[in-house]
Amino acid sequence: MATPIVKLNSGYDMPLVGFGLWKVNKDTCANQVYEAIKAGYRCFDGACDYGNEVEAGQGVARAIKEGIVKREDLFLVSKLWNTFHDGDRVEPICRKQLADWGTDYFDLYLIHFPVALKYVDPSTVYPPGWNAGSPEPEFSNATIRETWNAMESLVDKSLARSIGISNFSIQLIMDLLRYARITPATLQIEHHPYLTQHTLIKYVQKQGIIVTAYSSFGPLTYLELNHKSAKETPLLFDNPTIKSISERASKTPAQVLLRWATQRGIAVIPKSNNPGRMAQNLDVTGWDLHDSEIEAISSLDSNLRFNDPLSVNTPAPPFEMRSF
Ligand SMILES: NC(=O)c1ccc[n+]([C@@H]2O[C@H](COP(=O)([O-])OP(=O)(O)OC[C@H]3O[C@@H](n4cnc5c(N)ncnc54)[C@H](OP(=O)(O)O)[C@@H]3O)[C@@H](O)[C@H]2O)c1
Repeated sequence: MATPIVKLNSGYDMPLVGFGLWKVNKDTCANQVYEAIKAGYRCFDGACDYGNEVEAGQGVARAIKEGIVKREDLFLVSKLWNTFHDGDRVEPICRKQLADWGTDYFDLYLIHFPVALKYVDPSTVYPPGWNAGSPEPEFSNATIRETWNAMESLVDKSLARSIGISNFSIQLIMDLLRYARITPATLQIEHHPYLTQHTLIKYVQKQGIIVTAYSSFGPLTYLELNHKSAKETPLLFDNPTIKSISERASKTPAQVLLRWATQRGIAVIPKSNNPGRMAQNLDVTGWDLHDSEIEAISSLDSNLRFNDPLSVNTPAPPFEMRSF
């Protein structure tokens, strides 16, 4: 099944539905990417931090070798990890990630978090994560401006066709737009009915920046990590509003949640290890929710954020990423 595309401000087309690679195990990743391509996925959302870029690239290589797709049919996304924010570290790590994927360019390369950590040599620990073996994260003095200028150079050198940001607040984006030579093509954020981020989304869409939603099913993905806040929150799939819309539309609750985003022009990148659910998640365009249903789902907003890594993984003070 082909997925609709959205035009980025860089002039390139991005599929509205992609496949997320976070928590896809190394040993199954190549096969999952290959199967996802066979199922119709053309966009893959990877990152240094996911630790599976080599394997994802193997899946892509197999699909290309078998003639299922050409490289230009695919939209490969990767992300700059926090330990590589210093201006002179951006290009070398991007080149390493490109080599891992076995490709000459990323379709989209994002700053993963607006948090600069001290450089960690990839030959020592890779991916370095938040702590790289230290008890607490160690920060770098790199400014976002320095990092963004280096990201822009990746476009100049054709290493990335489009560049973007992730987990940025309105204020950081406002500031970045004051000096950016290249406007971010996309903003990737946590977005589900418990965290609608209405003001942030309205602001960035007005700037011509496409929003990509991650963790579209809310707490579900964080249960895999045993996060306390996820365990204490009712699953969105069990919510009566979502259930009744799912029955009315004859779609699964997961599809309703994804359609709630795509119908408003927000890209989604669900991850599934299950072939049936993988196929299901691709069928989230081409049918519509009623306006009143979109509103009813949006009204579930509770400003509940599940992905707040520094507050969960480390003894460092909580890292506040709210939009305002
Ligand atoms: N930029 C960032 O900081 C950031 C942060 C988080 C995520 N992301 C990106 O966003 C992607 C997606 O987010 P996510 O991985 O957090 O979670 P997600 O896609 O919202 O949810 C994944 C969870 O939902 C289950 N699932 C998937 N499809 C389903 C369906 N149709 N019905 C029922 N259950 C279903 C999966 O289980 P099964 O696998 O068993 O199906 C898994 O437990 C990531 O893979 C990553 O690429 C980015």
